[in-house]
Amino acid sequence: MSTQELKATIKEMVVVGKGILAADESVRTAAKRLASINVESTEETRKRYRNLILTAPGNEKYICGVILFEETLNQKTDSGILFPKHLAEVGIVPGIKVDEGLAEFEGSIEQYTKGLDGLGNRLEKYKKLGCRFAKWRAVYHIAKDTPTSMAIKRNAQDLAKYAKICQEHNVVPIVEPEVLIDGTHSIDTCYKVTEKVLKEVFAALKKENVMINYTILKPSMVISGKEASNRANVDEVAKQTIKVLKATVPSELPSINFLSGGQTPQEATAHLNRMHTLNEKLPWYVSFSYARALQDPALKAWQGKDENIQAAQQAFLKRAKLNSLAAMGKYKADMEEMDLDVVMVR
Ligand code: 13P
Repeated sequence: MSTQELKATIKEMVVVGKGILAADESVRTAAKRLASINVESTEETRKRYRNLILTAPGNEKYICGVILFEETLNQKTDSGILFPKHLAEVGIVPGIKVDEGLAEFEGSIEQYTKGLDGLGNRLEKYKKLGCRFAKWRAVYHIAKDTPTSMAIKRNAQDLAKYAKICQEHNVVPIVEPEVLIDGTHSIDTCYKVTEKVLKEVFAALKKENVMINYTILKPSMVISGKEASNRANVDEVAKQTIKVLKATVPSELPSINFLSGGQTPQEATAHLNRMHTLNEKLPWYVSFSYARALQDPALKAWQGKDENIQAAQQAFLKRAKLNSLAAMGKYKADMEEMDLDVVMVR
């Protein structure tokens, strides 16, 4: 194992004012996203859409890493360059989703994540294609009797095994425990569940001897359920989220990059921004690793049409810039209405 390589990757991925783009939707999820704009999902439409996002000129000003899906690794930009190579050329670190999706525990709504078998071999293959970090997502459902301690433990153990294997192959692991937003639960319930989940995750990482200083955490925020009445406001979400992180996340961890998990793009940006204006000293860098909250406006602007590509890229760059500002506590809600200076620089 060469900690040199892990160290270099962390250095390029933990940069003030930058965050990670998740563009690693599985074929099934990509089909759902494309269906929302009435575009049929084929290998070609997925490539055209990803080309638009990944080659948006100047995206490297706000984005330091992109999580890709396996299919994208072998696809090329319109100029004929493999996507991972293109990203590396503009100074963005390419990464890869390595989990193989979710499976149900028998007789339960709870899920675990597949993909540990043969992971080392797959990592070697992905590395040859330029990937330097990986992502594995575990999910937790909040309902009357869930998540159970059994599901929390099993998912923590698998996240730790995955992270260990990544580091053995000099790949930086992004550890993603997502407490799902679906449901009517209160923010207090979300806090309790998130605390339990994160404690178990870090205990498991320690037990597996995962090097925390070469690991990135991608958590959900502490937030009210999507269908809850009296949902907590921006201030409360930011305060509870920072509180749970301070209670559970070791200070050696270099970076926390949130998922957006069904928040609107504006909410996800406002929450991140508020975390940086609380005047709390944070031992880790705190930024974003959004998929929907970065991409949704661009997807809507595109509508599958070539004549909309530039407008879609502008929409993406605007969201990326607002989140970059939020990661420094410099975002203001009235910027949503402004034409920001995100004009093509390349
Ligand atoms: P969202 O930001 O859309 O939740 O996606 C993040 C992600 O990578 C899910 O695994």
